[in-house]
Amino acid sequence: MFGRKNKIEIKTPAQFDKMRVAGLVVADILERLRNESGVGVTTADLDRIAREELVKRGATPSFLGYYGYPSVICSSVNDEVVHAIPNPRPLQDGDILSIDFGAIVDGWHGDSAITIEIGAPVSAHTKLSDTTRESMWAGLAQAQAGNKISDISHAVEAVLRSGDNYGVLEEYGGHGIGTKMHMDPFVPNFGAPGHGLDLVVGMALAIEPMATLGSRHVKTLADDWTVVTVDGSYASHWEHTVAITEQGPWVLTAHDGGAEYFAAHGISSPASAKN
Ligand code: MF3
Ligand code: CO
Repeated sequence: MFGRKNKIEIKTPAQFDKMRVAGLVVADILERLRNESGVGVTTADLDRIAREELVKRGATPSFLGYYGYPSVICSSVNDEVVHAIPNPRPLQDGDILSIDFGAIVDGWHGDSAITIEIGAPVSAHTKLSDTTRESMWAGLAQAQAGNKISDISHAVEAVLRSGDNYGVLEEYGGHGIGTKMHMDPFVPNFGAPGHGLDLVVGMALAIEPMATLGSRHVKTLADDWTVVTVDGSYASHWEHTVAITEQGPWVLTAHDGGAEYFAAHGISSPASAKN
């Protein structure tokens, strides 16, 4: 599962600047989708909006046609963890929705996911989503030259384990990204620190923790895409694309590049200078 070092795509600063353009398109469109989400809206509606926004910006979807995937977003509701296909069922009060979205600009990909509560928040769902989001940021903070892949994995897992006995998926994880959406290396969301590939300047990674309120075990439905929990427990998924730069991590799919989080945690990042 771990890529070899010579297969890793190393980007120049100018190429990171191009990935930033794609990342901001993803950030803008996800923000629009968050604002459009609500009771009575369908995930098919959200997919249509994402398609319109892509056209407006002259960007290309990363997901549409990927191994035959039929939509531009993945919209995973409740016990669906990831890769669910948009559909005409209206969202309901109490649903927990993850929207995963990727775009290509000038050949470079950005990939990001958010979790949204529909209607009135449910405290257990809010805590699950907040913890999963926080685990993503802990992982992003480890995206620094001199660390190893599993330093990210360990940081993600440590935050997820601080939750209410959440299920932590083992079959899915983060990935390298750049001229393709999914590239080496695979980035597990669990494991001891200090193992795997050396992180070096020029790598770009998508960090994407997934956690459930129950068991970590999942299965894929007959549509060959939708990943659901076997015990029916609800799940959260968050994702950002991060560049490993000379000056530290730069979160390409966050509007502020990660400036706020990194400043609060004493981590140096090019984000504040660039925004
Ligand atoms: N963006 C997802 C990931 O984070 C992959 C989506 S699968 C697709 O890795 F088929 F929808 F593209
Ligand atoms: Co991804």
